Amino acid sequence: MKKSDAIQKAKSLLQQMTTEEKVAQMIQVSYADVGREEALRWASLGAGSFLHVLGDNAREVQRAAMQTRLGIPVIFGIDAIHGHGLNKNATIFPSQLAVACSWDPELVEKMGEVTAREVATDGLHWTFSPVLCLGRDTRWGRINETFGEDSYLTGELGAAIIRGYQGEDLSDGEHILACAKHYLGYGEAVGARDACDSEVTERKVREVFLPPFKKAVEAGCATIMTAYGSTDGSPLTSSRRLMHDILRNELGFDGFVVTDWDNTKSLVRNQKVAKDIEEASIMAAKAGNDMIMVTLDFYEAMLSALKNGAVDISVIDEAVLHILTIKYEMELFEKPEKTGKADCFSCDEHLAVALEASRKSVTLLRNNGMLPLDSACKKIAVIGPNADDIRAQYGDWTYFTHPHPDPSRTPVRPYVTVKEGIEALCKENGVAFNYAKGCSILASDEDDLETAVSIAKDADAVFYVVGDMIDQFGEYKDRADLNLSGRQTELFYRLQATGKPICTVLVTSKPLCMGDVAEKADAVLCAFNGGMFGGQAVAEAVFGKLNPSGRLPISFPRHSGQLPVYYNQLPGWHGGKYCDLPATPLFAFGEGISYTTFEFSNLNFCKDNYTVTLDVENTGTCEGTETIQLYLHDVVSSVMTVGKRLIAFKKINLAPGEKQTVTITLSHEDFALINAECEAVVEPGEFILMAGKSSKDEDMIKISVTL
Ligand code: NOJ
Repeated sequence: MKKSDAIQKAKSLLQQMTTEEKVAQMIQVSYADVGREEALRWASLGAGSFLHVLGDNAREVQRAAMQTRLGIPVIFGIDAIHGHGLNKNATIFPSQLAVACSWDPELVEKMGEVTAREVATDGLHWTFSPVLCLGRDTRWGRINETFGEDSYLTGELGAAIIRGYQGEDLSDGEHILACAKHYLGYGEAVGARDACDSEVTERKVREVFLPPFKKAVEAGCATIMTAYGSTDGSPLTSSRRLMHDILRNELGFDGFVVTDWDNTKSLVRNQKVAKDIEEASIMAAKAGNDMIMVTLDFYEAMLSALKNGAVDISVIDEAVLHILTIKYEMELFEKPEKTGKADCFSCDEHLAVALEASRKSVTLLRNNGMLPLDSACKKIAVIGPNADDIRAQYGDWTYFTHPHPDPSRTPVRPYVTVKEGIEALCKENGVAFNYAKGCSILASDEDDLETAVSIAKDADAVFYVVGDMIDQFGEYKDRADLNLSGRQTELFYRLQATGKPICTVLVTSKPLCMGDVAEKADAVLCAFNGGMFGGQAVAEAVFGKLNPSGRLPISFPRHSGQLPVYYNQLPGWHGGKYCDLPATPLFAFGEGISYTTFEFSNLNFCKDNYTVTLDVENTGTCEGTETIQLYLHDVVSSVMTVGKRLIAFKKINLAPGEKQTVTITLSHEDFALINAECEAVVEPGEFILMAGKSSKDEDMIKISVTL
């Protein structure tokens, strides 16, 4: 239904609602937490939404809601974060961080579409995705959920997945609501301590953290989730400035806002800006939160506040209007249940998208010629704690990990671990294969380094698969020490001592401090949490069936003490380095190589139409994909600006020897900065435009542009 019609209908329904019915619309209940009886009671009170409930349980709740006086349907939300992972039959994609390595908005949009169809087939309406927080300090436990450290890339991929989730029409059976989260600056918490304060100013917010949300709003994102934390001492849940003034009035957001988990209570319990739940409820509602996630006390507290005149009913009316408008736009009153598509879970079409995503996520970071393997390699040893561990490969937010982990649930096929992928291709290519786990992620009595070393001695090439495990990432699991845990580094040195070529494979939620395990390896392949086919994609890269094309969306620190190490920092007087460590990361934003090489030349900018052109040539011996990254530096400006920031990118596929002129059109606004008055302005003068294969200076060609 058209927005304008939906608003009219919502307004007239609102007029028929009692105060109790209105306040209940704002409540979101966790089925998994309250259980069936309570859930049905809340449905009969008219609660507006439920989360974490699937299938028949959801249908029963919906029936109860439809039998209420006004028959207002419930919206069901779920954390379908990289696929509808809480359903064990679903297609599981690489994590957001992994798929961000693809720098491929079209692919990410398809991932959104597939996820939406599977969520809809479960009768659900809404995913709490995407995360638009920036992953700038990799100690943070939720780095895997981000699209990496860069505001521009995050905005492009975020808008793409939103388009995929929501499609053209919210009322069709196969698309669902997206939820851009967590508004705002959540990833920037001091010390990377989850849900703590982010010491950012409004200028910084506008420059760095707001742009991805602006793109989400422009893409029509129907809902936004507020963050747990605070910025500069103001809890995000009570920030009318951010939610009302900036999000609604400035960006023009016209969907509804949901708090994060129990945020309203935390205004009393943790953040202590409210003396009791009534005061907190008033704050949350007045700030512009339309739906209250799991703080069920809000209901009584708000009714009491309305009764004693502490809050005006117009505040509630506005919130409920936002929620009902979306319900009408989705045509939920006629079609309370999404239908999806029969037999679509992990169907061939969906698996093909998952495989494409896994392939495009694989990032080759180092290669001294070991890869791809040639016919001289007759025997392979696959070693390491994450070589054959599908939980590690899937990462967070799947049916056996988050949010109610049940390790007894067994993973459902199809999936391919790194060990399985390499073993299968060994068979196909007549190469002998051997595997030993060697050690665990956390040191254990079962560690058996000797067997691992002995199979390495006997092999022509060693693949050492390292990383982290679910106990080391996710909510509540920030790490102070990012070194490889357990005996992973020790085992690397033992393997290295065999003198055999070693490729380190990273199956990890985020950049860890790899040290020699990366620096002294002959090759390094990164898959992050590569999804169902992460292992197959790695194997294909090893055997040269796949020419890796991933580029890092995030920098790898050398040491936790070096954080944050993101590429676009403000310049300092003294070079920004420590006396005991270089200023540079181990692997930089945008970095990634392939089995061929590319040359950039003839960079040009046409002032009349803001068009950038450059020539790109495949100078190697095989077909490959390059990602052209355009960065900008404002030479002299009223406020300090970063040395370079990404403003555009384009992927191009070239045959060996092929040369193409690539055109990228910029806009005047791409040259803007946020001045001291918090306005976006383009200041006339000189800019340096850079075309890079990565964010590293040595990978760039540059020209000066004067506006
Ligand atoms: C808390 C998380 O911060 C948020 O990302 C998630 O969507 C909600 N819980 C619901 O599970």
